[in-house]
Amino acid sequence: MSVADLSGRIPNNVNLKDDKRLLRALESWQPKYIDWWMEMGPDGFQADQIYLRTAISVDRDGWAQFGHVKMPEYRWGIFLADREDGRKIPCGDHYGKDAWQDVPGEHRNALRRMIVTQGDTEPASVEQQRRLGQTAPSLYDLRNLFQVNVEEGRHLWAMVYLLHSYFGRDGREEAEDLLVRRSGNADKPRILTTFNDPCEDWLSFFMFTTFTDRDGKFQLHALAESGFDPLSRTCRFMLTEESHHMFVGETGIQRVVKRCAEVMNKVGPEPDRVRAEGAIDLPTIQKYLNMWYTSSLDLFGGEKSSNAASYFAEGLKGRFMESKYDDHVCVDGHYDMTVVQDDRLVQEQIPLRIAMNEILRDGYVSDCENTVERWNKVLEREGREERLYLPNRRFNRRVGEYANIRFDPQGNLISEHEWTSKRDQWLPTTADFAYVKSLMHPVVEPGKIASWIAPPQKGINNQPFEFEYVRK
Ligand SMILES: [Fe+2]
Ligand SMILES: [Fe+2]
Repeated sequence: MSVADLSGRIPNNVNLKDDKRLLRALESWQPKYIDWWMEMGPDGFQADQIYLRTAISVDRDGWAQFGHVKMPEYRWGIFLADREDGRKIPCGDHYGKDAWQDVPGEHRNALRRMIVTQGDTEPASVEQQRRLGQTAPSLYDLRNLFQVNVEEGRHLWAMVYLLHSYFGRDGREEAEDLLVRRSGNADKPRILTTFNDPCEDWLSFFMFTTFTDRDGKFQLHALAESGFDPLSRTCRFMLTEESHHMFVGETGIQRVVKRCAEVMNKVGPEPDRVRAEGAIDLPTIQKYLNMWYTSSLDLFGGEKSSNAASYFAEGLKGRFMESKYDDHVCVDGHYDMTVVQDDRLVQEQIPLRIAMNEILRDGYVSDCENTVERWNKVLEREGREERLYLPNRRFNRRVGEYANIRFDPQGNLISEHEWTSKRDQWLPTTADFAYVKSLMHPVVEPGKIASWIAPPQKGINNQPFEFEYVRK
């Protein structure tokens, strides 16, 4: 078991104090990170005391410590899951050979690209969420937002550690650039589209943490299967934090649905009447779901991808839970994919390696289905007949095979005319955004909660809901 060193400026379990060059490089990046955090991190609240958990080790039981801290004083550390003795490359052409402890020269560019792309999403989401603190529905939610934000900051640290330790000067340059790009900025945008989309209300935040952080889970799992061992170990530890982000999203929507159901039981299902009670109507929840889910589907990349094939072939990136598969090489075998040909949907057999993005997306889709099912249980328990659903993966895509082709939420090809006439039933309208925005008022009294969301079933770390999760 590795020992965590919590005494220096950068808490870590990678023996930073014995690597003076690396330590100096990271210590010179640290103030720039703090500048970025002050400029682009949570707006306001930087001087408040937030009840946060901090990673202090990688032991299953004792990795987190809870306490009130000011966010700029959060101890962002570098933690890698422990090294597995004799770990082998889990997939591709080098399957079964020793995993790499250093970057193989021929894979340097590809690995750096993967790490930068992952790393870029972390500060991007903090930027997207930076104003949400001002309209939090409760102190409990406010604290959860900040917990997600500081951990995304730590994820950035994790990727920057890899860039600094293994990629020399270009790694250091990339680490600087990660603090220069800005979500939604026309001149220097973040790398992936979803991470430039505005996330301006809490319904979006809960959808984002449900669907977009879940993309993170699958990407991290795929990178945890990398033959480049330090990347694998970094991602394995990040996954422990990621599950809390998805918990925040899933239970957030659960509570919005619960409140909606309670109001429907009182005044009936008509959206206007639900809105008159200050709750969010189910059609609006569905439209937000459609928007964030489909945007997150795009993050997996094109359905047919020669990049994904070569990442897999080279052992740089595996599948979700690679060990559950029998064949780790995948030179034979096909994937049955639905594609559009001459304005019709047809089945096509794609070589397995070319379909790696789609295989990862399959796991994601079924994970999302389970989530929506749990949301529907809330409606069921409240005695409602309405249900939420996951739209077909072809609907509303901006990337890949189905991009810019019109499909309905069931996945049927439709005309531009039909799309235009029904779009507002499927995706949020300006009026929907405005309505949700009109509900966004801060509730900062301990134990109180906004009208549009039910209180959580339990607090954080066995604290009650009334606990002062954020204080001046
Ligand atoms: Fe993250
Ligand atoms: Fe996350």
